[in-house]
Amino acid sequence: MAKYVLAYSGGLDTSVILKWLQITHGADVVTVTANLGQRRELVGVQAKALACGASAAYLEDLQQEFVEQYIWPALKAGALYQGVYPMATALGRPLIAKRLVEIAREVKADAIVHGCTGKGNDQVRFEVSIAALAPDLTCVAPLRTWELHSREEEIAWARAHHIPVSATQKSPYSIDENLWGMSIEAGPLEDPWAEPPADCWQLTVDPDQAPAKPAVVTIEFEHGVPVRLDGEVLAPVELVARLGELAAAHGVGRIDMVEDRLVGIKSREVYEAPAAVALHAARQALEQLTLDRETRRVLANMGQELARVIYDGLWFTPVREAIGAFVDSATHVLSGEVQLKLHRGRATAVGRRSPHALYDPSLATYGDGDTFNHQSARGFIEVFGLAARIASGKRRAQQVKAPQPGVEEVLV
Ligand code: ARG
Repeated sequence: MAKYVLAYSGGLDTSVILKWLQITHGADVVTVTANLGQRRELVGVQAKALACGASAAYLEDLQQEFVEQYIWPALKAGALYQGVYPMATALGRPLIAKRLVEIAREVKADAIVHGCTGKGNDQVRFEVSIAALAPDLTCVAPLRTWELHSREEEIAWARAHHIPVSATQKSPYSIDENLWGMSIEAGPLEDPWAEPPADCWQLTVDPDQAPAKPAVVTIEFEHGVPVRLDGEVLAPVELVARLGELAAAHGVGRIDMVEDRLVGIKSREVYEAPAAVALHAARQALEQLTLDRETRRVLANMGQELARVIYDGLWFTPVREAIGAFVDSATHVLSGEVQLKLHRGRATAVGRRSPHALYDPSLATYGDGDTFNHQSARGFIEVFGLAARIASGKRRAQQVKAPQPGVEEVLV
């Protein structure tokens, strides 16, 4: 009998897959449910898997590893896909894949099964991660191949096979959640012109209804990673959870975007990522204070590259490791404190300080105590502007018209 390890969320798709594998493939199915800090009740998930015929049901608490090994490296780099998406879903997939592979080895499974559709990014992330970690294991994706072509057909199939269908499964939205944020798609969100309906938001208070009085939280970073909130040392999971709650109460973290999927489809997605949005804002404020301009420029490029690598499911690759090494080096001095104001949907840095600050008041001041040598600016500008001066002179000599409007007038 073939043995399959199924990535099991307890939702409709994976519950139907669990039963379907037994009926159509005669398979022995072991389920693995990852706890990445989603609020969904997970205790009942194991019992549900066993009731649906799983031969074993694993529930894996991966929260700490998720924050320390996946979220922190992305945060340090300032990695936001297409400049905005903090990638809660994309960061969780490689970790789930890693645990699936470990359990597949333990139970000597023949294949790993997931419930991703054939038009999303997650199938790619799971399968590329599994291929990198265990090239010999095959992947099965029933949603790409089976005969159930709609949600209604799946619900009917579930009922016919005595699989409980919960009320939340009637929601028009497709939701993926973990500690770093919530990804919400489908239903009324498929019209990119339509404002997201109030009922699509699951975590955050409507910014218009949020308290008029802002909250100011002090976040301390060490080497690019947050370690304290308002002076209190917190474990990584606790820190993200606490800050997330506070930011959500102030309406921080709503993102509405049209996103380019790896498979070529544009899709309208909304996200709620209160802790992620707050921490990225704070990190950026500290970066401004502590990193020199060139390091910031290259780090910004690396952050974009890393976002793309993560989004595309290439976590277990040499390029991700190499970018990580650069980011660790560049952010070694990213230590210090940021005061972050949370107010009606916005997270704004209002203060920053660091033992590594490159900010020098005696150079910056317009008041007394200015130590900047104003005379030296003249020579600097002369050399800095030399190439521009030479190019301009050449054009004049050759009567070449410069392409930009406005410059032409200068030439006559
Ligand atoms: N578009 C996001 C990503 O590719 C989220 C995908 C999962 N979303 C969902 N609602 N199931 O990372």
